[in-house]
Amino acid sequence: MSENTATKPTKGILLAGGSGTRLHPMTQAVSKQLLPVYDKPMIFYPLSTLMLAGIRDIMIISTPADLPLFRRLLGDGSDLGVTFTYREQPSPDGIAQAFIIADDWLDDSPCGLILGDNLIFADHLGKQLRAAATRPTGATVFAYEVRDPERYGVVSFAPDGHALDIVEKPTHPLSNWAVTGLYFYDGRVREYARSLKPSPRGELEITDLNRIYLQNGDLHVQRLGRGCAWLDAGMPDSLMQAGQFVQTIQSRQGLLVGSPHEVAFRRGFIDAAALQSYARRMIKTELGRALMDIANAIPEKDAEAA
Ligand code: G1P
Repeated sequence: MSENTATKPTKGILLAGGSGTRLHPMTQAVSKQLLPVYDKPMIFYPLSTLMLAGIRDIMIISTPADLPLFRRLLGDGSDLGVTFTYREQPSPDGIAQAFIIADDWLDDSPCGLILGDNLIFADHLGKQLRAAATRPTGATVFAYEVRDPERYGVVSFAPDGHALDIVEKPTHPLSNWAVTGLYFYDGRVREYARSLKPSPRGELEITDLNRIYLQNGDLHVQRLGRGCAWLDAGMPDSLMQAGQFVQTIQSRQGLLVGSPHEVAFRRGFIDAAALQSYARRMIKTELGRALMDIANAIPEKDAEAA
């Protein structure tokens, strides 16, 4: 690890690959992460999360067939005051493969990784994310209590609360705490990712990477408590539930959920004129009108936007 790792700005990887077989036939012709979650493409939600963490240098990784579609949707990032780099994942060989694909681009920077179908909403999430993104050493993962932990990476805790172990899709889970698809790592992540061997299912497992940090005493497990929603939109039911969740909050409260443009404005990545210009292009939609209202309002100082 180079000495100035801690001072380098944290980069972000948005992994939007996979064949989306659990959503066929919806995903036979279009990438899962481009499907709508209520009024936005799915990828807007995890993108907002990375931006909320203060990350402005973002690599989008997807299949060779889908990458041009993401590029068409998101461009070079200038609309959002961020920089997008696009890179292909020729075959889906595991989440941790993202760090091999991004190796030269990462160049010892700390890095956040989010899966393109993970939607996370919580009060004060921005603060937690920024703390994780700026932690000088170690890794941070987020744990969330679920009814069906066997579908996920599962973390077990000692009575004093410290993490004991992480197991990928255990048949007999030792806890109900699933590890979400949002991870933050220090500059050692490339080196650790290179040391991974494919698991029995042939993938470079993110859980194996997390276990390296855990064994070094360098893994911070942040529990997401009540009132927080973590949704993965990878199956028809969860996709529908995610859409309904967003619709419920937005129509009840008049607040946007998962708008990268709102986050860009509130975090100061773009100014009101840039937000107005985007909103004008979307003005036939509720979303466009909501963004116009936000751009025209007197800015709240560093308001939470998620
Ligand atoms: C992956 C990870 C798992 C994590 C989950 C979160 O599972 O392997 O550890 O809990 O994402 O969405 P997959 O989506 O590959 O089933």
